[in-house]
Amino acid sequence: MERLKLVVISIAGLVFGTGLYLGWDWEGVRQPLSFNHQAHTAMACVVCHRGVETRAVASIPSTRFCVRCHATAPVTRPDELQQWMNISSEGIVERVKWERLYRVPKHVYFSHRRHVVLAELDCAVCHGDMAERTTPPSHPLTTISMDKCLDCHEQQRVSTDCAACHK
Ligand code: HEC
Ligand code: HEC
Ligand code: HEC
Ligand code: HEC
Ligand code: HEC
Repeated sequence: MERLKLVVISIAGLVFGTGLYLGWDWEGVRQPLSFNHQAHTAMACVVCHRGVETRAVASIPSTRFCVRCHATAPVTRPDELQQWMNISSEGIVERVKWERLYRVPKHVYFSHRRHVVLAELDCAVCHGDMAERTTPPSHPLTTISMDKCLDCHEQQRVSTDCAACHK
C-alpha cells in the first residue's frame, strides 16, 4: 500500500514538473482589460479588426483606437472602471497589449482576405462564438489544426499542396 502511494505521488510529481518545465499554460490567456464583444455587435468586425477584408492579418485594435469612441469610461463594473482609468489617465494607452488567442506557426501562410472575402467564410467557422463573448476568452474557442484546414480544402476543392500553406 505504502509503496503504491509513493509511486502515485512520484508520477504526479513527474507530470507536474514536466508541465512546469515545458511551460504548459494552466490558466491560459489573461487580457489586460475585460473587453466585451457582445456589447459591440452593432458594428462590423472590420471596424476594429481592420485588416480582415484587405490583408492577411486581421489585427487587434490598440486602446488608443477605443478612445476614439469612448472619451469617457464606458464601464459597467467598478473593477473595469479602475482598469480603464489606469489606462486612459496615465497616457499609457499604447502600452496595453492584448494577448493572442489564435495563432499558426511561422512556417504557415494564412490570409484573412482570402478566406473572408474570396471564400466568403463566416468568422465563426474558424473562431467559434467570439461575437457573443461578454468577457475575453482565456483559451481559443476552437482549435486551429492542419487537419481542419485540409478537411475544408478537400471539400471545397482548394489546393492541398504543402507549398500552398507552408513557406
Ligand atoms: C478559415 C479560417 C478563418 C476565418 C474564416 C477567419 N479567421 Fe481569423 N484567424 C484564423 C487563423 C488561422 C488565425 C491565426 C493567424 C496567424 O497566426 O497568423 C486567425 C487570427 C485572427 C486574429 C488575430 C491575429 C490577427 O490576424 O490579427 C483576429 C483578430 C481574427 N483572426 C479575426 C477574424 C475575424 C474578425 C474574422 C471574420 C471577419 C476571421 N478572423 C475569420 C483563421 C480564420
Ligand atoms: C466605433 C465605436 C467604438 C469603438 C471603436 C469601441 N467601442 Fe466600446 N462601445 C461602443 C458602443 C456603441 C457601446 C455600447 C453602448 C454603451 O454601452 O456605451 C460600447 C460599449 C463598451 C463597453 C461597455 C460594455 C458593457 O459591458 O456594457 C466597454 C467596456 C467598451 N465599450 C470598451 C471598449 C474597448 C476596450 C474598445 C477598444 C478595444 C472599444 N470599446 C471600442 C462603441 C465603440
Ligand atoms: C470594438 C472593437 C471590436 C469589434 C467590433 C470586434 N472585436 Fe474582436 N477583438 C477586439 C479586442 C479588443 C480583442 C482582444 C480582447 C479579446 O480577446 O476579447 C479582440 C479579439 C478577437 C479575436 C481573437 C484574436 C486573437 O487571436 O487573439 C477574434 C477571433 C475576434 N476578436 C473576432 C471578432 C469578430 C468575429 C467580430 C465581429 C463579430 C469582432 N471580433 C468584433 C475588438 C473588437
Ligand atoms: C471552412 C473552409 C476553409 C478552412 C477551414 C480553411 N480554408 Fe484555406 N481556403 C478555403 C477556400 C474556399 C479557399 C479559396 C479561396 C479563393 O481564393 O477563392 C482557400 C484558400 C487558401 C489558400 C490559397 C490557396 C491557393 O491555391 O493559393 C491558402 C494558402 C489557404 N487557404 C490556407 C489555409 C490555412 C493555413 C488554413 C488553416 C489555418 C485554411 N486555409 C483553412 C477554405 C478554407
Ligand atoms: C491548407 C493548409 C495546409 C496544407 C495544404 C498543409 N499544411 Fe502542414 N500545417 C498547416 C497548419 C495550419 C499547421 C499548424 C498546425 C498547428 O499549429 O497545430 C501545419 C503544420 C505542419 C507540420 C507540423 C510542424 C510543427 O510546427 O509542428 C508539418 C510537419 C506539416 N504541416 C507538413 C505538411 C506537409 C508535408 C504538407 C503536404 C503534404 C502540408 N503540411 C500541407 C497547414 C497546412
